[in-house]
Amino acid sequence: MSIIAVGSVKASPGVTTLSVGLAMSWAPATGRRAVLIEADGDGGVLAARFGLASAPSLLELSATARHELTIDRLHANCQMLAGQLPTLVAPGCGETTTVVLTPLAGQLAEGLGQLGDTDAVVDVGRVRPRSPAGELVKRCDLLLLVARPRFDQLVPLVHQARRMIAHDIPTVLVCVGDRPYSPTDMAKASQLSLLGVTAYEPRMAQALERGLPGNQHHRRLLLWRTLTELVRRIQFRLPAETSGREAA
Ligand SMILES: Nc1ncnc2c1ncn2[C@@H]1O[C@H](COP(=O)(O)OP(=O)(O)OP(=O)(O)O)[C@@H](O)[C@H]1O
Ligand SMILES: [Mg+2]
Repeated sequence: MSIIAVGSVKASPGVTTLSVGLAMSWAPATGRRAVLIEADGDGGVLAARFGLASAPSLLELSATARHELTIDRLHANCQMLAGQLPTLVAPGCGETTTVVLTPLAGQLAEGLGQLGDTDAVVDVGRVRPRSPAGELVKRCDLLLLVARPRFDQLVPLVHQARRMIAHDIPTVLVCVGDRPYSPTDMAKASQLSLLGVTAYEPRMAQALERGLPGNQHHRRLLLWRTLTELVRRIQFRLPAETSGREAA
């Protein structure tokens, strides 16, 4: 029942890739179920990237919006990404996604918060004022702002981090790569705590497209260890009542 939103402030630092990796690592690391929601107002890429169908998607889910969002209704509109991860894809067209998502985001946030032992990793795309995924960002349990540690990403990161803090949205930073700036300096400048750093490694993106390796040897790879560690840190930051952890 936790909502973990993942978004960027500029360029394409790897939000979708990280969202897929976190959602795939979620169940093995936490013992809880995960669903991946693509709520990027610029349009979806998951269907094309992972060879899924264009429907069902957010569009089909929105057609039943007058009903409460139950786990069955959500699953009826999900597809299995890499054969293992229930995924609600966004239409490839940004305009369609924006039209569908703007009125649906609040209901999605409400429904996702009630899903028992299923947590949602939500790719909210670019985080900005009046984003169609705004209600999901506002009501998430944790927002991961993803950035490359570069000057062109630092200024918008500082600006958006200030906005998130002002709106009391629990927000942390994930850096993709560790140069030219240090991720610690990015965190200090934005006043966010640094959840972690993922390698800037094209093989990482490619590996994710083949799904989560079942075999122990592959699970020891740095990529999976990094994702598992990030999931654990996320879970640690979630409110105990929504994370499945025992309350202290
Ligand atoms: N950790 C990484 N190392 C190297 N390349 C990466 C990494 N993560 C993503 N990429 C590559 O960067 C490109 C953008 O990735 P992705 O689509 O995940 O970014 P995004 O932030 O979601 O972009 P957009 O703003 O377009 O939604 C893709 O080609 C992807 O393969
Ligand atoms: Mg993306």
